[in-house]
Amino acid sequence: MEVIVKDNVEEMSKTAARVVARTLNAKPDAVLGLATGSTPLGLYKELVRMHEDEGLDFGQVTTFNLDEYVGLTQKDEQSYHYFMHENLFKHVNIPLSNIHIPSGTTDNYAAFCNWYEDRIVESGGIDLQILGIGSDGHIAFNEPSSSLGSRTRIKTLAKQTIDDNARFFDSPDQVPVYAITMGVGTILEAGKLILLANGAHKADAVAQAIEGPVTSMITASALQLHDDVMYILDREAASKLKMLDYYEWVQDKMVDAP
Ligand code: PGA
Repeated sequence: MEVIVKDNVEEMSKTAARVVARTLNAKPDAVLGLATGSTPLGLYKELVRMHEDEGLDFGQVTTFNLDEYVGLTQKDEQSYHYFMHENLFKHVNIPLSNIHIPSGTTDNYAAFCNWYEDRIVESGGIDLQILGIGSDGHIAFNEPSSSLGSRTRIKTLAKQTIDDNARFFDSPDQVPVYAITMGVGTILEAGKLILLANGAHKADAVAQAIEGPVTSMITASALQLHDDVMYILDREAASKLKMLDYYEWVQDKMVDAP
């Protein structure tokens, strides 16, 4: 695993965007796994800039989003469909037919979840998955106690997540209670994982995910089992890491590594 600590959220976002761009340059038809929330906003802004200024091409890219609120239509401004179109898709040239986001309004969730898993496999699997982390240590909506082998399914949100996400809604009781989410097992099958985190409010979750035991109580800790993970953090989110000096030493020395 690689832990990269940047001075601020802008640098964190640009570093992640460079990794995405490298992936697309090496494999123009790459399959990207995408996340929503405040954390990846700077990454998407930078990818849009790279598309506009540097011709970064998304013409053959396929995407799969991690999750969606149950009950929100695609046009609902709080839905992750809306978020993705507003912040990325409408600004770049990803063919609409290549975009996959879990449905929050299907009439058969079990069948939809199976279909979503099958589509990921049929697309050749996710090459690069972007992740945020919840203050309760979740990845996607895999709340504490989610099975580390879980697949795409409906989850009941934790109270802490509802409180955290209430800032996007008029009141906490408008936050949906259920979400459809890729499972931890689904996420671990991606070729490469990037977990982004910024802000002091993420420092405890980040420290537990990277340096704590692998446990379903912090589902981001399951990333320790993956062989190609990059954690890109700002200094505040990294502030509770015990091995911080070592991670920075490694980054320093990597240039000359044999
Ligand atoms: P945030 O959410 O980026 O809005 O902090 C992260 C998450 O819950 O995964």
